[in-house]
Amino acid sequence: MPSTIIAIDGPSASGKGTIARMIAEELDYAYLDTGLLYRAVGMLAMSDGINLEDKAAIAAFAETLSVTAIINKLSAPALRSDEAATAASKVAPIPAVRAKLLKFQQDFGASPPEGKKGAVLDGRDIGTIIAPNAKVKIYVTADTAVRAQRRWKELQKRGETATYADVLADLRARDERDTKRSAAPALPATDAVILDNTRINAKETFAEAMKIVSKALATD
Ligand code: CDP
Repeated sequence: MPSTIIAIDGPSASGKGTIARMIAEELDYAYLDTGLLYRAVGMLAMSDGINLEDKAAIAAFAETLSVTAIINKLSAPALRSDEAATAASKVAPIPAVRAKLLKFQQDFGASPPEGKKGAVLDGRDIGTIIAPNAKVKIYVTADTAVRAQRRWKELQKRGETATYADVLADLRARDERDTKRSAAPALPATDAVILDNTRINAKETFAEAMKIVSKALATD
């Protein structure tokens, strides 16, 4: 039986990671947070002294990177920082970076670890580029102000001092970079179901997502 792939895409702080993790747990599927891969490349480039505004330097750096070095970095707590998120969105538009990560993500979907019968991948281009044939595609989103509020609360809990205005500005800049780039722009696949959770909480979003998933899986 080929593996069943569920693609969860969406912008920053839309709650896509939470929903993706909950779906994976519910179905006993493997889960991959693909944003972490880009965060790892961004942080590795920074520690190598690469100027993140220099596209050619990032591309050359990506050519030399091994996928193993990226995977080994995935559990670093620093990857969860906003600095890592910004670095990720600066390296992510570079085609050489995306090419480096493509096969790992596709292999994860096709042959999930631990013999799981399916995989949930969350990111920006899962339904469009990584797994265009995914069985289920959900694009999770919410209004910008609501997303910024959620991210700000998250940062406050972690003891970070950013103001709401800073968080909102950063989120807008990142949305702009992600959607306007020419390589794999962060947009919903034409066949994705849009799940807007501006007015509903995580539990309700999960319930809505499971309705979409169950309906799609029932068409086997
Ligand atoms: O959840 P949040 O958007 O804050 O972070 P993330 O999902 O870890 O993504 C960080 C950045 O990585 C995004 O702003 C994108 O620029 C990039 N990314 C991407 O280009 N493609 C993916 N599949 C995942 C992330």
